[in-house]
Amino acid sequence: MATADRGAAPKKPVRVITITSGKGGVGKSNLTLALALALSSLGRRVLVWDADLGLANIDLLLGLKPTANIHDLLDGTKTLSEIIAQGPGGLKILPAASGIMELGALSESQKQRLLSEFDDWDEALDFLLIDTSAGLGTNVIYFNLAAQESIVVVSGEPTSITDAYALIKVLSTCYQQNNFYILPNMVANEKEAKNVFGLLSSVADRHLSVSLRLLGFVPQDPAVVTAVRTQTPFFLAAPTSEASRRVLEIAQRILANPPDLMAEGGLSFFLNRLAGLGVTVE
Ligand SMILES: Nc1ncnc2c1ncn2[C@@H]1O[C@H](COP(=O)(O)OP(=O)(O)O)[C@@H](O)[C@H]1O
Ligand SMILES: [Mg+2]
Repeated sequence: MATADRGAAPKKPVRVITITSGKGGVGKSNLTLALALALSSLGRRVLVWDADLGLANIDLLLGLKPTANIHDLLDGTKTLSEIIAQGPGGLKILPAASGIMELGALSESQKQRLLSEFDDWDEALDFLLIDTSAGLGTNVIYFNLAAQESIVVVSGEPTSITDAYALIKVLSTCYQQNNFYILPNMVANEKEAKNVFGLLSSVADRHLSVSLRLLGFVPQDPAVVTAVRTQTPFFLAAPTSEASRRVLEIAQRILANPPDLMAEGGLSFFLNRLAGLGVTVE
């Protein structure tokens, strides 16, 4: 694993990225995990926060059975290091919470606990990737507003495209979040990915003030389906599959494109926004 940029290199803020979608089942969890493993294979230290309350959670994809989650941290019974599970390739996983954790309903002491538990992690991470639920739930909005970068995963299905548009529309018109990466998944090829992106961006250009950027694409690939069945991430089980190669390209693109406003980044910036967001979510 490359380590050239560690050690005495100047400290860069942790990049906090949400992986989100309008519609469920478009591949968020699989892509979050693959992207995390790709970044990790490029020498970056990654924590994956499984914030999806859906079925195919990160720990299921990895065959892990975590015994604690963020609830145990918030109620003061466990520390952050005690709830973080070790994944393959040096990955760290913050497991999904059973039951709904409403970020908007955290007490003052829970917010303080969240902030102080993450305090030391600024030095130990390069990326925090957050696998959110689909749609427009309160937590999805909170995570997307607090994170500096958002990746919207979209499949070629018309409903996935219209739901992605609805998510982008609400985040931009109600909450002034205007920058999004678009990641078509389960498409046939690059041409279809560009079509999907074209459809989304032409409607967005006409009705919204947003900047959408095509991050790459991941094809429909049987290696992903097999990996889900065998509970081994496709990036590790099938490193030469097209899906894995595309994800590696996406990781390299992310590394080559740090966000403009690094001053607004970092873990404590993210957590302060997450805990302190005074947004009213309809
Ligand atoms: N690139 C792909 N190629 C083939 N199948 C895929 C791909 N991405 C996702 N899938 C399929 O879609 C299912 C849902 O993926 P998942 O990552 O759980 O979606 P989400 O987290 O958005 O609900 C997976 O179980 C897998 O069968
Ligand atoms: Mg999921």
